[in-house]
Amino acid sequence: MKATWYGHAFFKIENNGQKIFIDPFMEGNPACPLELEGIEGADFVLVTHGHEDHYGVAIDICRKTGATLVANHEIVTDARDRGIENVEPMNIGGSITAGGLKFQMTEARHSSGEGLGHQAGFVIQGSGGTVYHAGDTGLFSDMKLIGEIFEPNLALLPIGDRFTMGPEMAARAVEYIGAPVVIPMHYNTFDPIEQSPEEFRELVGESAEVVVLAPGQSHRVLTEEI
Ligand code: NI
Ligand code: MN
Repeated sequence: MKATWYGHAFFKIENNGQKIFIDPFMEGNPACPLELEGIEGADFVLVTHGHEDHYGVAIDICRKTGATLVANHEIVTDARDRGIENVEPMNIGGSITAGGLKFQMTEARHSSGEGLGHQAGFVIQGSGGTVYHAGDTGLFSDMKLIGEIFEPNLALLPIGDRFTMGPEMAARAVEYIGAPVVIPMHYNTFDPIEQSPEEFRELVGESAEVVVLAPGQSHRVLTEEI
């Protein structure tokens, strides 16, 4: 399994030949090295909530590649109205199995945009590991439960502050979740969420390995096998 960061909360997870895009934010994402034309194939597009910096180009990727949209009921309804047919609606606490992967929708403390349901995070379980993408969220103690139940190998956590956890709260989240590796996200996209990932790394200390990716860079989860 491999995770590639495209700035903000936009990641690609690859597992056993499957490509999963999460929160694809391109236009207005100054760090995104990827253009829509550059996406040749996608199997799943996951959207954590309805804000434009997450819903982004999800519809465009689904249209272009035929990928299945995985999101809450309201976002899926909006996507269906816009002509997207391959969809997997779900909601918090539920899981689905598709393409040899298991997707669990988890709680997030945030908002989602009018008419676009409840904000969420995702746990993705594949043959190559388990990844927790927290979405946009404040700290909540049930992250401990997410850690206990799913034992993620990798956690993707917002550290930008203001709209989500900042470095201090995210460092506490790392303790709750217990993942051995953490990649910070949702920072330095815009001035109001300017943060130092190095400060976050210091706050996390021995609790986990903090992997700071440059946009376009990847991290292999667990094994060399993708
Ligand atoms: Ni948001
Ligand atoms: Mn956001």
